[in-house]
Amino acid sequence: MKKVLVTGGCGYIGSHTIVDLINNGFDAISIDNLSNSDESALEGIRQITGKAVRNYEVDLCDLTKTREVFEKNPDIVGIIHFAALKSVGESVFQPLRYFHNNLESLINILTCAKEFGVPNFIFSSSCSVYGNTAELPVTEDTPFQEAECPYARTKQMGEKIIEDFTKVTPEVKAVLLRYFNPAGAHESALIGESPRNLANNLVPVITETAIGKRESMTVFGNDYDTRDGSCIRDYIHVMDLANAHTKCLEYLIKNEDTKACEIFNVGIGEGVTVLEAVNAFEKVTRQKLNYKIGPRRAGDVVAIYANKSKSENVLGWNPTRGIEEIMKTAWAWEQARTAE
Ligand code: NAD
Ligand code: WQD
Repeated sequence: MKKVLVTGGCGYIGSHTIVDLINNGFDAISIDNLSNSDESALEGIRQITGKAVRNYEVDLCDLTKTREVFEKNPDIVGIIHFAALKSVGESVFQPLRYFHNNLESLINILTCAKEFGVPNFIFSSSCSVYGNTAELPVTEDTPFQEAECPYARTKQMGEKIIEDFTKVTPEVKAVLLRYFNPAGAHESALIGESPRNLANNLVPVITETAIGKRESMTVFGNDYDTRDGSCIRDYIHVMDLANAHTKCLEYLIKNEDTKACEIFNVGIGEGVTVLEAVNAFEKVTRQKLNYKIGPRRAGDVVAIYANKSKSENVLGWNPTRGIEEIMKTAWAWEQARTAE
């Protein structure tokens, strides 16, 4: 079986991707220093797939310890690099921590890919690389605007580092996946998103409010130039997102003559407003959400959603879940994790 190294495998998107990889015949190991997770997701993965996945509790900023993992696993055919710090707000106040963690870990893992001859590399990028763009929907060729925060800048810089590296390293091929707004959970409710503190992202804010972890929530602005005045985003179900990684890996393995570095948007290509998201939650859970309309949040773009043609046509990726499925699974997960 083909073995894949997943960095950040105990985290939100990494754990769901491991499930999809195993379901498609791959074997996975993880490197995660547990700075924003614990190993409970591995038990969820075991229950869902019947497979025990090993995590190496290693900080990827430590090159020596990272190398040791490759020495012990000479049969790795691909690396999916999720590990990073991801809080937009925190990055504004701790820029050096973000640059250090997100870029040093990337440089180390690329160093190992070259040294150990791992031919396939997939990087978690983000639609935040586009900045406040006016071009909609966003294609892979839409130019970057100024990054809105140091976190987004680490993704812009990470992409450039990989492009420069692969240009002179023909033995390693890379794909950059620009995720839009990942949300939802595995349908079993055995794994999901577990913010360490209270969440900032819309979907977990909604479920935390409904379960009573917050008294109420605020919709940030209803005076934008959109169909109902609230901001528009492209919410992508985490299991559809997970499958994009498997499809990429299969694509890289099948097509050895691909470009050194390919880029794909990973969104469903449809914009959903904040109020539509709230309504979808109320509809699928048959309960009222305690929310109020508040002022705009600083730094928010009015609207962003993907053109997903390239991912569909080149990878054969076909997301099937919409905002209602996202709300249903996020709510089941919120109930399960709160009951623990
Ligand atoms: P997450 O925090 O749940 O998972 C990341 C994991 O990486 C965590 O388990 C953390 O402990 C680990 N990690 C961080 N730094 C590490 C280091 N130096 N060494 C080893 N492990 C380390 O985050 P996620 O939501 O699963 O995000 C995964 C990736 O996707 C990240 O690169 C993130 O920037 C990117 N992304 C996320 C979103 C989103 O909204 N969740 C959107 C776009 C892009
Ligand atoms: C979505 C919409 C808010 C909370 C962030 C990162 C981005 C990427 C994805 C990593 C916005 C509104 C939210 C609330 C609200 N992550 N909202 N009330 O800001 O689109 O993107 O996550 O790469 O880089 O910036 O996601 O979930 O925070 O917000 O009204 O309590 O929900 O204003 O319109 P965002 P989000």
